[in-house]
Amino acid sequence: MATGKTGATLRMPRATPAMQTLQTAKDEATRHGRSSHWETVWQEGVRPLGKFDAGGPCPALEILLAQDDVPRHPEARALVPGCGRGYDLPVLARHGFHVEGWELSETAAQVARDYINSQEHATPDAPLTGTMSVARMDFFEPTSDQQYDLIYDYTFLCALHPDSHQAWARQMRALLRPGGLLVTVIFPIVDKEGGPPFAMSMELVSGLLQGQNFECQHLAMLPDSSCNKGREGITALGLWRAPDAC
Ligand SMILES: C[S@@+](CC[C@H](N)C(=O)[O-])C[C@H]1O[C@@H](n2cnc3c(N)ncnc32)[C@H](O)[C@@H]1O
Repeated sequence: MATGKTGATLRMPRATPAMQTLQTAKDEATRHGRSSHWETVWQEGVRPLGKFDAGGPCPALEILLAQDDVPRHPEARALVPGCGRGYDLPVLARHGFHVEGWELSETAAQVARDYINSQEHATPDAPLTGTMSVARMDFFEPTSDQQYDLIYDYTFLCALHPDSHQAWARQMRALLRPGGLLVTVIFPIVDKEGGPPFAMSMELVSGLLQGQNFECQHLAMLPDSSCNKGREGITALGLWRAPDAC
């Protein structure tokens, strides 16, 4: 029990059973990767380059998409789970992908829609040859038979409670078509407790995905010039091929 300046005893309000139930439900949701924290964060305002915002597309994605071994056909579909402001959607659409961004937070989804609309005609020299859309969608919600040729994870895994990491890997496997490509930009590679963002490492991501039989095609730290500003030296790139159907 706390004691006030006057020496009087302060009685802290007791959590009612209803409050306890609500808190337990929130903790459960967080451990399952569906934290209501995110809607609060976005409602309070996420500034470009502020916490949880890369400030622009990741240079590594542009470099990667210019290479030949990326799935490329007129109907190729890409997914960006936890897309935040949606910086990487126009990059994928300029390379011909029909790209969907998924956001748990309705506020973030609206911010991303405004961003992609502002980018429709932003680069006349590199027109969008694919399409872009953003949905309010929980990554862990079971989907029917939606499958993608490419999934791009940039600071989505680090946003999730570690208890949901295995489910993240299973859902990546379920959402990629056999032989599809998972691109993970792994950040922040640091030693720290707690989150979000939770600490990442190449070993962590590798263990999760190899447990789902993904084949590692590339895993290395990114050169500084391929990182977003301020993320140099603590960002890696992983490329993972989903297993072919049996
Ligand atoms: C660190 S932010 C990503 C920012 C963005 N990738 C960027 O680089 O600017 C993580 C995002 O994941 C979203 N998120 C968290 N859990 C999710 C879930 N279960 N399904 C979909 N999105 C989720 C959050 O709302 C948040 O916007």
